[in-house]
Amino acid sequence: MKDYEFSDKKILQSWHENAKEWVKVIDRAAIPSRELITNQAIIDAILARSPTSVLDVGCGEGWLARVLAAKGIEVWGIDAVPELIAEARSRSEGRQQFMTASYEDLDTGALPQKFDLVVCNFSLIGETATKTFFQKARALLNPGGHLLVQTLHPLVSCGEQSYIDSWRPGSWAGIDGNFKEAAPWYFRTTSSWVQLFIQNGLALVSLKEPLNPATGKPASLILYGELTQHFTAPRTG
Ligand SMILES: C[S@@+](CC[C@H](N)C(=O)[O-])C[C@H]1O[C@@H](n2cnc3c(N)ncnc32)[C@H](O)[C@@H]1O
Repeated sequence: MKDYEFSDKKILQSWHENAKEWVKVIDRAAIPSRELITNQAIIDAILARSPTSVLDVGCGEGWLARVLAAKGIEVWGIDAVPELIAEARSRSEGRQQFMTASYEDLDTGALPQKFDLVVCNFSLIGETATKTFFQKARALLNPGGHLLVQTLHPLVSCGEQSYIDSWRPGSWAGIDGNFKEAAPWYFRTTSSWVQLFIQNGLALVSLKEPLNPATGKPASLILYGELTQHFTAPRTG
């Protein structure tokens, strides 16, 4: 069997290779759980906070940025894949701006403003990249700002494996598209997600588990963090 690489680098490589097909899949609305549940769930979660500015982290081809901009919200999107950012730019009208940057390379000072809300919609996939992004999150938020993360629901996505943080092979199962090799992903338990917020100075204010009516199981997990006023970063090393 061919060696399968579990790394943050491999995730980005796979998204570079699959960018074109991903755009087609989003255009065809070919991911049923998104159409049925999770797209509206993240839109509702964002609008419930009434932000005037949003940063869409790992924005892909920019569908969410377009929805939010149409509601009068000022939106920036970042993504590591230039092809996806080019697509997002070419489709944007009005209050949207996009920048190519990986979470690892993102210089928070390169963005001209801070945001009322930062959203990561199924875009925190790796191990180190996710940790690195969380370490930068406070610097991206206005006082009282929120970080929203929508991710695969840990209990549902765990499958038969042990319920512990670990790398898992990726798969495009259930998504009708002509994809190349799927990106690996780093499975996190619910408590591991919660820790990421707390360790990085974000108070967890809510958890949501939108239900898939067809299966009766949660289609995703949405975590809301709020910037805490006083925070001392834990010492590393
Ligand atoms: C499943 S797609 C989600 C895209 C978009 N948020 C949406 O809702 O359609 C994951 C996105 O995360 C981006 N991504 C993954 N790891 C990244 C990293 N380390 N830095 C920047 N972008 C990353 C990928 O390029 C891809 O566009």
